This record gives sequence, C-alpha cells and structure tokens, in this order.
Amino acid sequence: MTDSAFPSGIAIREARADDAPGMARVHVQSWRSTYPGLIPAQFLVNLAEAPAARRWASIAEARAPGQGALVAVDVAGVVAAPGTIVGISSFGTRRVAVQDHAGEFHALYLLDDAKGRGIGRRLMAGMADRMLAAGIRSAVVWCLRDNPSRWFYERLGGIRLAERPIRFAAADLVEIAYGWRDLTPLARLSAGPEVR
Ligand SMILES: CC(C)(COP(=O)(O)OP(=O)(O)OC[C@H]1O[C@@H](n2cnc3c(N)ncnc32)[C@H](O)[C@@H]1OP(=O)(O)O)[C@@H](O)C(=O)NCCC(=O)NCCS
Repeated sequence: MTDSAFPSGIAIREARADDAPGMARVHVQSWRSTYPGLIPAQFLVNLAEAPAARRWASIAEARAPGQGALVAVDVAGVVAAPGTIVGISSFGTRRVAVQDHAGEFHALYLLDDAKGRGIGRRLMAGMADRMLAAGIRSAVVWCLRDNPSRWFYERLGGIRLAERPIRFAAADLVEIAYGWRDLTPLARLSAGPEVR
C-alpha cells in the first residue's frame, strides 16, 4: 500500500518490524499521558519500552489480511525530528463478540504534540480501508469509559453499543464499545489528496 504524506507532512503507512522501537516509544509516552487517574500509577511507572517493542514487532510482522498495524511518520519534521513515528494503531478481528461486528480497532495512540492535526482520523480511515479490503465490513473499538478520547470515536460516527466491567492492573474499570456497522464512510474520511 502506498504511503500518503502530503500536504500535511505526516505519512500514514503500514508498520514494519524495524518500526517497533519507535512504536514502543509512542505507546509508553501516550499511556503515561492518557491514563493517570484512570489506571493505577504503578502500572504506568512500570511500563517499559523493550517489552512493548517486542509486542509491536510481532504485530507488525503478522501481516495477515484484515489485521496489522499502521504508523504515522513525521516525514517533514512538523512536530518532531523528521522520520519520527508520532502515531501508532493496530486492528484485526474482534476479540469479544459485540452484536455482529466482525473487526476491531485494537489500539490508537499519538504523541501529545501530534494531536489535533487529523492524524487520528487518518489512522482510523487507514485501518477501516484495510479491513474493508480484507472483507471485514464492520468493527468495534473498546475504550475506557472515563477516557475523554471516547468523544473522538463519537465524532467519527461510532455508535455506543455496549459497556463491560474489566479488571486491569489490579483495578476495576469500565469499558465502552463503539461500533461502525459499515466501515465505508470511515474509510472515506481520508478522501482528498491522500486517497490511494
Ligand atoms: C484519540 C486520538 C487518537 C485522536 O487523535 P487526533 O489526531 O488528536 O484527532 P483528530 O485531529 O484526527 O480529530 C478528529 C476529530 O475528532 C475530534 N476530537 C479529537 N479528540 C477529541 C476529544 N478528545 N474529544 C472530542 N473531540 C475530539 C477533533 O476535534 C476532530 O473533529 P473535527 O472533525 O470537527 O475537526 C488522540 O487524541 C490520542 O492519541 N489520545 C490519547 C490516546 C487514547 O486515548 N487513545 C484511544 C484509546 S481507546
């Protein structure tokens, strides 16, 4: 799949195994920025890039149709040094049945400086596009109920479908599922100069 970089200076492309260290850096920084007060501080203190990098390398290597990872790369040095990975995302088949939605957005994280530039929308569109290409027409995302980023999913047309209690890092939390019954409009959100 072709990279798309302009006019924003940020390219969205499929992740490679050698992106894993940069993906782990975004993962750890974004968790430490997003989740204080939502999940236990000790879990955030203990987060480490090396194990995260191993997980992202295996996700990037999997490369089966309808699953994988995308990265947002700051090719033009807009918010970071040129070539820096500033956003990460992963997707695949759903892990928990939610009505009859087949796919799932597994992860979506940006560095703080990269927020508010349409990168999250482009990563969601790129994931939707790749799921559709593999015949996955619908998908959900699970998000902590108290994470303000859930309004982003509502802005992108996600419909609130379910709520569930989870036990994570020795804490009792609540997650909400948002769903897109037809991924086509979401995939088209990147239309314009970025269309492939
Ligand atoms: C959620 C996240 C990926 C959004 O990415 P982003 O690049 O900042 O969002 P975009 O610039 O693409 O925004 C797209 C639209 O959603 C809106 N939006 C983004 N974040 C929002 C929020 N927290 N609340 C309300 N609206 C939001 C934008 O205003 C924009 O609306 P517009 O179409 O009217 O311009 C990013 O904020 C992030 O990484 N958050 C921390 C990690 C996280 O919580 N991930 C989700 C885990 S489930």
